[in-house]
Amino acid sequence: MPDTLNLTDHSFTDCHALAKAFAERIAGQLREAIDARGQALIAVSGGSTPKHFFEQLSRQKLDWAKVSVALVDERWVPESSERSNARLVKSMLLQHEATVAQFIPLYANAPTPEAGLPAVKARLAALPFPFDVVILGMGGDGHTASFFPGGDRLSEALDLNSGLLVVPMRAKGAEEPRITFSLPALLQTRALYLHIEGDAKRDVLNEARLGTGKGADYPIRAVLTQPQVPVSIYWCP
Ligand code: 6PG
Repeated sequence: MPDTLNLTDHSFTDCHALAKAFAERIAGQLREAIDARGQALIAVSGGSTPKHFFEQLSRQKLDWAKVSVALVDERWVPESSERSNARLVKSMLLQHEATVAQFIPLYANAPTPEAGLPAVKARLAALPFPFDVVILGMGGDGHTASFFPGGDRLSEALDLNSGLLVVPMRAKGAEEPRITFSLPALLQTRALYLHIEGDAKRDVLNEARLGTGKGADYPIRAVLTQPQVPVSIYWCP
């Protein structure tokens, strides 16, 4: 699709082929980061889409002990919950070759994200920013990370000048309170990816690209239109 946005499409007819090719590409970038700087920092999304990709990535041979893995966003639930993104990452990504990677959770044992924020920020302060790789997902409502339509702190989270690293978020479309890296924090990355699957999400993404109708208000549009970092889009049906 011709447009003036800084986007590159990688479309696959088979989702397993996508997972494999995507994992090989990300592994290559983690290796390059380790070669250049002695360490690598990656932020991944939760949800259901990345499972095959995580499985493939976990089998890639690289110096995983030098890799820090963070989440783009987290549901405010303990790891014992099926809804926990940390639980997903531990069970699907930090396996096989990747068991020795360092994981930095966005959840702290506190009743609300606001109450947990100091602990989370202290943990993140030790990370070797910028990110080498950030991988976003997208919901059918056009949200990405925890940038939900109608989110109570959406404008702050998307504000490129906010100076905020992480933001608590509540929204009707999110089952529980969330915590999310802000958009400016996620754009502090050497490589930015959007991984989506299915025709319905492709249609939502196309609307967001065009900015017409509902597409103008989808939060993902803030990622697609930002001028700082090119976005590589991985899609399969
Ligand atoms: C989360 C995510 C979120 C996710 C989308 C897509 O915690 O839910 O990080 O931003 O990427 O909701 O989720 P699915 O892959 O489940 O459709």
